Amino acid sequence: MSTNPLPIIVAPSVLASDFANLRENLTRIEAGGAEWVHLDVMDGHFVPNITFGPPVIRSIRKHSTLVFDTHLMIEEPDRYLGAFRAAGADIITVHQEVCPNLERTIAKIKGLGAKTGVAINPATSVDVLEEFLHDLDLVLVMSVHPGFGGQEFMKESIDKISRLRRLIDHAHLSVHLEVDGGIDARTAGQVVAAGANVLVAGTAIFGHPSPERAVRELREAAMS
Ligand code: DX5
Ligand code: ZN
Repeated sequence: MSTNPLPIIVAPSVLASDFANLRENLTRIEAGGAEWVHLDVMDGHFVPNITFGPPVIRSIRKHSTLVFDTHLMIEEPDRYLGAFRAAGADIITVHQEVCPNLERTIAKIKGLGAKTGVAINPATSVDVLEEFLHDLDLVLVMSVHPGFGGQEFMKESIDKISRLRRLIDHAHLSVHLEVDGGIDARTAGQVVAAGANVLVAGTAIFGHPSPERAVRELREAAMS
């Protein structure tokens, strides 16, 4: 068991929501006690899907005080970091797999005044993150292959989460450990027990008749 020192944060992913009602959806998850909203940006290259970019983020920014947790599933993220920050992204997470010079990308995000995150795919080892942990606000473990909501949680991610939690605690850091993909009331407890403190959930929140209640239920499940 971990001695996870950080509070549990629920970060609903709007990917599973009706985009015609984005503004209302943000209000609903906030009413349920969500602290962050997870924004999945997909470019059709790094992942097969295309979602949205800075203009949509800028539009919803005016109507929400939630922390905008921006997950960039895009190639060449350096080219767009300024645009996402200007649109209102609070946290900018890039994928390690598309950053040939991760140190430079991290410095660029920091220079923009955003919180800095790095994500790893299921096939990527946590080892690649070790030397950067002291420079990061967040690490994101993908527990499905990125690109689609509604996939089944990959149990292999549990070991990666435990390992990262040990590395973070050993270095006395307070980096957020976020898990993304297949998180629901059943898997939330498992990932939190392994040391995660930020839970991304799309289908479990927006596939629920009451997203407000779903946020509360997910948090309760995570803490029980
Ligand atoms: C997948 C995205 C996830 C997705 C999770 O590539 O990064 O954030 O929305 O969806 P669920 O919770 O349905 O697995
Ligand atoms: Zn995501």
